[in-house]
Amino acid sequence: MNEANRMKKLPMYLFTIIDDLKKQAIAKGLDIIDLGMGNPDQPTPKHIVDELCQRAKESENHRYSRSIDKVECELRAAIAEWYKKKFNVDLDPEKEVLPLIGSKEGIAHISLAFLNSDDIALVPNPAYPVHFNGVLIAGGILHNLPINETNNFLPDLDSIPENILKKTKMIFISYPNNPTCAVATEEFFEKAVKFCNTHGIILVHDLAYSDIVFDGYKAPSVLQSPCARKTAVEFHSLSKSYNMAGWRIGFVVGNERILRSLAKTKGYIDFGLFKPIQYAAIKALTGPQNCVDDTVKMYEKRRNVMVKILQEIGWCVPKPKATFYLWARIPDKYSALTSMEFVSLLISEAGVVLSPGTGFGDFGEGFVRFALVENEDKLIEAGRRIKKLLEM
Ligand SMILES: Cc1ncc(COP(=O)(O)O)c(C=O)c1O
Repeated sequence: MNEANRMKKLPMYLFTIIDDLKKQAIAKGLDIIDLGMGNPDQPTPKHIVDELCQRAKESENHRYSRSIDKVECELRAAIAEWYKKKFNVDLDPEKEVLPLIGSKEGIAHISLAFLNSDDIALVPNPAYPVHFNGVLIAGGILHNLPINETNNFLPDLDSIPENILKKTKMIFISYPNNPTCAVATEEFFEKAVKFCNTHGIILVHDLAYSDIVFDGYKAPSVLQSPCARKTAVEFHSLSKSYNMAGWRIGFVVGNERILRSLAKTKGYIDFGLFKPIQYAAIKALTGPQNCVDDTVKMYEKRRNVMVKILQEIGWCVPKPKATFYLWARIPDKYSALTSMEFVSLLISEAGVVLSPGTGFGDFGEGFVRFALVENEDKLIEAGRRIKKLLEM
């Protein structure tokens, strides 16, 4: 039962390894505080759940969903309306909006839709894993763009060699960024759009954290840049903004031709979204948004608490403007360890789960990521346990 070569190229999925380490720690009797996966801990708002329950009782919603069906048309219209309100960008709901079974699904399939075996995709490193794993699964060629503190975690587009550019078909970017928490300016997006238009490259922007922003910061859309629609698509998720991670719903907007090819690819693979989930998503996007504000306030408080605790124990970590993560350099005492070794030690000795930087690519080495998906009491307890480990 030999796996396909393209699958052998993939590293073992990070969270599978972490789950094994967690299992071993639980078997030893340790209590676990899980700040590993970016899996929101709050419930989906009631009005959204109620809509799902009601729509699930209507038998006509149990059939396959087709793009011409009423609910899909209404969902695309709701997405376009949300975009206009949030970014002042006009979208044609029929041609420039495509609902997805979670944004991860669409990000993986866009590589499958466009990459031939001699096409290069540029991917910042570290990155959210599906950005590079999608390229490998599709059989394309991956070219890493290292991002680090020196370049403000923004890829240096001017340094890409001409021979690479000639074969480049796509670039993946994502700001606010997971795992580094970096944000990008509108100027950076304008530059990226110009660069892609000049070189005929598809610009894929993953804006999963558009709502999780703090201290008055607003995350721009790449589609606000002039001429972006010539080359760009932008992915969004309802998982974080509305605590709907398990529901599997996201969407992509932007260049009509790119969306048509992605829809064609998906058409051979899936049958769209369960209709009650689509109705619930319409409620989420068009209903009251104070639930989003409450979620953001909660993450902002958690961020403040965790950064302060870490600072008090001598682990200085930047305070991010967005996302619900912290991207932290491994403390000096353990800097000889790899990020995976440090995370294993934290799990086995302290029962605290973080994500190793290398789970997001080789250039994540030396860092770990905190996901602030536990309540403040748990964060304080995690800080106490980490302190003990640092003093050992
Ligand atoms: C940057 C980024 N993009 C996409 C996703 C996937 O979101 P979804 O639940 O919509 O598939 C995540 C999830 O953590 C993410 O961090």
